[in-house]
Amino acid sequence: MPGRMIDLHCHILPTLDDGPSDFEESLEMARIASRDGVCKIIATPHVYNDKFAIQDIIKQVDLLNVLLKENDIPISVYPGAEVSIGLDPALIPSYTLNQTNYILIEFPHNHLPSFAGKILAWLISKGLKPIIAHPERNYSVIRSPELLLNLLNRNMYVQVTADSLTGDFGTDIQYCTDYLLNSGKVDFIASDAHSKDFRIPVLSEALEIAATRIGRQASQRLVSTNPTAILTGEEIH
Ligand SMILES: [Fe+2]
Repeated sequence: MPGRMIDLHCHILPTLDDGPSDFEESLEMARIASRDGVCKIIATPHVYNDKFAIQDIIKQVDLLNVLLKENDIPISVYPGAEVSIGLDPALIPSYTLNQTNYILIEFPHNHLPSFAGKILAWLISKGLKPIIAHPERNYSVIRSPELLLNLLNRNMYVQVTADSLTGDFGTDIQYCTDYLLNSGKVDFIASDAHSKDFRIPVLSEALEIAATRIGRQASQRLVSTNPTAILTGEEIH
């Protein structure tokens, strides 16, 4: 459905992390997203330490939105972050998605830390709703998906990356994604884009593949209905 998709995990802000090198590239990423049918993007720079605060992210988002308007690109950007599970726990709750209770949490790629369950439970006790960023790319989860299934509960959500569905990250990650999709454990598909040239902000191809696995209506929820609930802070059903 053109123009209706929302990308909730996208490194579209320049200079904060390993995303675009300047606002020109941010605008080019937005053009690519818009052509693909995306209308809203949550900007999610990596947060590993206290180098920048959520206020710094909001400032960059405000500036990008002005530039998007000036350049007639029909995309709105919202503030967020991709927060490392290793960040000082006291800092984590400030980096939520669009100032709601939803928070995007990243694990290391090579293992599931033993303290992850404890931190997630603590965040939930604070009223936060953790979304696990791309667990299908975590080596431990690829080997033993039940590790993730055991960690999840009804206050937690799962985001998979569009390129995982298309096979761009290889067949092991693709199989793991299919397994999670077919188990009904996936709540969002997002681009996790980092640039205008590789890992670009597109969702439509992944949406089509998801539709062949779980049906059109269920897959539409992953790129439209569920991310809308994040922007408004509503419950995901
Ligand atoms: Fe990311």
